[in-house]
Amino acid sequence: MRYFFLFFFLSIAATLGITGFRGGYSTRTPLQVFNDMKNQAKLRPQTDSTFPGFADGVSSRPFPAGTVAQQVGYQDNTTWKNDPFNTGRDFSKGDIPNNFVEVNPVPITSELLKRGQDRYLIYCQPCHGAQADGNGITKKLGMSTVANLHDPRIIKMNDGEIFNTITYGKNTMMGYGGNVPVPDRWAIVAYLRAIQLSRLGSKDDVPAPVLEKLK
Ligand code: HEC
Repeated sequence: MRYFFLFFFLSIAATLGITGFRGGYSTRTPLQVFNDMKNQAKLRPQTDSTFPGFADGVSSRPFPAGTVAQQVGYQDNTTWKNDPFNTGRDFSKGDIPNNFVEVNPVPITSELLKRGQDRYLIYCQPCHGAQADGNGITKKLGMSTVANLHDPRIIKMNDGEIFNTITYGKNTMMGYGGNVPVPDRWAIVAYLRAIQLSRLGSKDDVPAPVLEKLK
């Protein structure tokens, strides 16, 4: 019985200790058992510094010679946004979820397709496979929901929506906007269309001399 009371008392003390002070405020320095990275050897900007490498004794570093101030395009968001090239969206259709541009705004050239192939093989093939049928290496590793990009739904999709999927991802696919710059995304879209076309062609698309040879 003694042990029961001891245990009972300790568990009440522990419960109160852990939950009783939640939401309370204190101005005292918190007790840091593991101080993680809360305290770091760092310098605050524009303060004194005794760091031997900084001969002028100031924490902020001067710009290297020849530095040119840049106006970042993203700052002017409306102009940036109104160019379908950047977003895959045509805001003249309205600010609606499905305002994707129908056709790739970049002229389709053989260089663009080459670049698209190069980027596709790096960024998309691991999951979607070289033939875009969803049979990449990750399937063998257990990722079973990778989309088959020959699906009629995706074939009919506007180019802008595929651009958007590359940028932000979709459902379980993560976005590649941070890894693949805008022009490369359009190159990938163009190349993906070429892969899709490769399974949509008929005998009539084959030039006559080549068809002769095939027979
Ligand atoms: C890490 C694996 C992975 C990579 C890499 C990947 N995808 Fe995906 N992708 C998926 C998965 C999984 C889905 C299915 C998402 C869902 O609907 O759950 C998908 C779906 C899609 C879809 C269909 C979206 C829809 O509307 O249903 C498109 C288009 C697509 N991917 C294009 C690409 C392109 C282009 C690349 C290369 C830039 C790429 N993916 C890279 C895993 C990947």
